[in-house]
Amino acid sequence: MSSAQPLLSAHTIAIVKSTIPLLENAGTAITAHFYERMFRHNPELKDIFNMSNQRSGRQQFALFSAIAAYAKNIETPEVLAVAVERIAQKHTSLNVQPHHYGIVGHHLIETLRELAPDAFTPAVEAAWTEAYGFLASIFIGRESNIYANSKAQKGGWNGPRDFVVKAKTAESDLVTSFVLAPVDDGPVLDYQPGQYLAVRVKPEGADYWEIRQYSLSDKSNGSDYRISVKRESGVQPGMVSNYLQDAIHPGDHIQVMPPAGDFFLKSTHTPNVFISAGVGITPLISMLETLAAQTTVAKHNANPLYFLHACETPQQHSFAGRIRELEGQLPVLKSFTWYSKTHNEGSFHGLMELAPLKATLPVTDGNFYLCGPSGFMKFAKDQLLDLGVAGERIHYEVFGPHAEL
Ligand SMILES: Cc1cc2nc3c(=O)[nH]c(=O)nc-3n(C[C@H](O)[C@H](O)[C@H](O)COP(=O)(O)OP(=O)(O)OC[C@H]3O[C@@H](n4cnc5c(N)ncnc54)[C@H](O)[C@@H]3O)c2cc1C
Ligand code: HEM
Repeated sequence: MSSAQPLLSAHTIAIVKSTIPLLENAGTAITAHFYERMFRHNPELKDIFNMSNQRSGRQQFALFSAIAAYAKNIETPEVLAVAVERIAQKHTSLNVQPHHYGIVGHHLIETLRELAPDAFTPAVEAAWTEAYGFLASIFIGRESNIYANSKAQKGGWNGPRDFVVKAKTAESDLVTSFVLAPVDDGPVLDYQPGQYLAVRVKPEGADYWEIRQYSLSDKSNGSDYRISVKRESGVQPGMVSNYLQDAIHPGDHIQVMPPAGDFFLKSTHTPNVFISAGVGITPLISMLETLAAQTTVAKHNANPLYFLHACETPQQHSFAGRIRELEGQLPVLKSFTWYSKTHNEGSFHGLMELAPLKATLPVTDGNFYLCGPSGFMKFAKDQLLDLGVAGERIHYEVFGPHAEL
């Protein structure tokens, strides 16, 4: 966000700030009303949103909390710059377009009017309409840049592109990798290790397209992509992960959006520590593969690398063989494993306790990358802070709407 953005009037700012509690206090009712209204009037948006969430009654609060956060910082939008970048990256992976903002804005305003008719005076409506338009223009501007940049690069494209599954490989009991190459045989966009792509599929029996993000799990090679998908079971099996695992085979086609995301290696000139649990290993193995391929690391023992992973059992340990292989090749790489359900030689048992590694880990000068369930990442982050790692050296990715740890 730059100071070149048109500014809102003091009057608008005052009204928006005074009505923030309207959004904050409305709770789940407002979100449910908003989505119900939007999908009734604009069912085409069901092709963009995760309809599994809608069916299960789980709602995405992210949009409303982002709007409330924006309203709170309305005089200093630069405070939200990091969040805007993250959301814009996510939106472009979903192929969100400028005209969608008008639709979302309309249903937002109508929801407020319908749920809080007394507080929603013409002055409040005018202020919120102006403020929403201002926020939308920031996103539309950044997203246009991302789309243009993606199109201009070698192998770049916008929106869904047909890919063919070149290989399908089980990495563990739960995780399966898919290597995807364009059906048109053209090159693909390079990406930063840690970024994700979105796949767009219509499983049999589904009424709408479903889009899900998957981290790239290998280094960028300009010709194909690898993703690694965990089978999500539970009360109701995950729709897309099970479809990919059960129904998609080598030779099948699926649609892929260009890589996106703001989680990637900050520096190759510091020690790097990768800390994951479960399928959270995917963006981190991409970072490790990228560094391993860089001859400076391999040949000159440049910067230490640490790969720490937690999962339940060796059978659920994805990429275990590959990590061992890389450890054999790279003197700078040390790996540590925790199995919560089994005792195994050469690994720790239980949760990932980091205190015993205090003397080993580069707590003063390393960059630390976390990925896994939010509870796990919070557990690891708190320990890193206790060990003296600076907060700005801890980077993480959430496999869902972003949350502060
Ligand atoms: C940036 C990013 C990167 C990601 N990278 C990866 C990756 O590398 N690998 C990977 O495997 N995943 C990754 N994900 C997660 C992935 O995008 C999907 O969210 C995941 O595969 C689940 O999708 P699904 O369609 O199978 O489940 P959904 O159908 O969307 O359901 C989600 C969860 O809710 C449960 N559920 C569904 N319906 C109900 C119901 N009625 N009641 C109760 N619970 C229900 C499901 O069991 C599942 O656990 C990433 C996500 C993001 C945002
Ligand atoms: C100013 C308006 C908007 C704001 C503030 C906003 C905010 C957000 C935020 C905070 C997230 C979660 C990002 C993350 O951390 O993963 C998100 C996700 C998402 N947004 Fe937006 N958004 C806006 C407009 C739109 C529009 C116009 C569309 C398209 C119709 C859209 C579609 C989505 C979708 C599909 C997701 C993924 C979550 C899901 O499937 O439910 N958003 N948005």
